[in-house]
Amino acid sequence: MTPPWLVVPAAGCGRRMGADRPKQYLTLEGRTVLAHTLMRLHAAFPEARLCLCLDGEDRHFDSAWVPFRDWRRVDGGVERVDSVINALEAIVAEGADEQAIVLVHDVARPCVAADDLARLFAVVNDDPVGGLLAAPVADTMKRDDGAGRVARTEARAGLWHALTPQGFRLGVLRRALARARADGVAVTDEASAVEALGLSPRLVPGRRDNLKITHPEDLALAGQILAAQVSGAIPTDDEECR
Ligand code: CTP
Ligand code: MG
Repeated sequence: MTPPWLVVPAAGCGRRMGADRPKQYLTLEGRTVLAHTLMRLHAAFPEARLCLCLDGEDRHFDSAWVPFRDWRRVDGGVERVDSVINALEAIVAEGADEQAIVLVHDVARPCVAADDLARLFAVVNDDPVGGLLAAPVADTMKRDDGAGRVARTEARAGLWHALTPQGFRLGVLRRALARARADGVAVTDEASAVEALGLSPRLVPGRRDNLKITHPEDLALAGQILAAQVSGAIPTDDEECR
């Protein structure tokens, strides 16, 4: 298989985290979140070509954290989707084929496991649409009434959390994101833009510990997950992890 292109959006400011710097530059187990995430991706795809989306004014980034041989820095945009679109344009400028596989992975997910990365890539390579790592919803789901009370309980069956990476062919992804932007549709992941084209991305079951660091309490949790994964305390057997 030809190695994928990797797009890592890392141009966010981490408003919900409320730290003194963007969350990708907070330290976990002696390394920045950004360094962890890139190490995990590199371990799975050492020959991949990387587009790293960074804020133009970023003063925290250090290129020593990038383990890839072939990588480029791309300016982030106002929203995540704008950052990803900038990366796709950079990939096109490198002469990539429309059929090239692009995996988009949030920098804020440093706990992504090698086996999930490999499985997603294998599925996406064989699929006409593409797909995403996802985990079935485990909690009972409530819809609120807008005033702090339960309006109803939503059926949980068939609901999934959308994780990353999400992988699509370059041509499809460019079309989907350009359309979403032109239509003014807010998309928080690639799959929803592809869905809006009338296509159905594959759901690839992934580990539940691939958490996105978003709120302050997520940081300690991510640190514990990383430590446990490295020590082998978390079983890597698929069934036990879902
Ligand atoms: N991101 C980006 N460009 C933006 C906004 C977000 O590249 N204009 C990236 C973030 O760096 C992160 C990913 O998209 O890796 C997911 O976004 P999110 O978790 O929302 O991160 P932030 O936008 O930084 O956080 P917040 O929404 O709390 O400000
Ligand atoms: Mg955000």
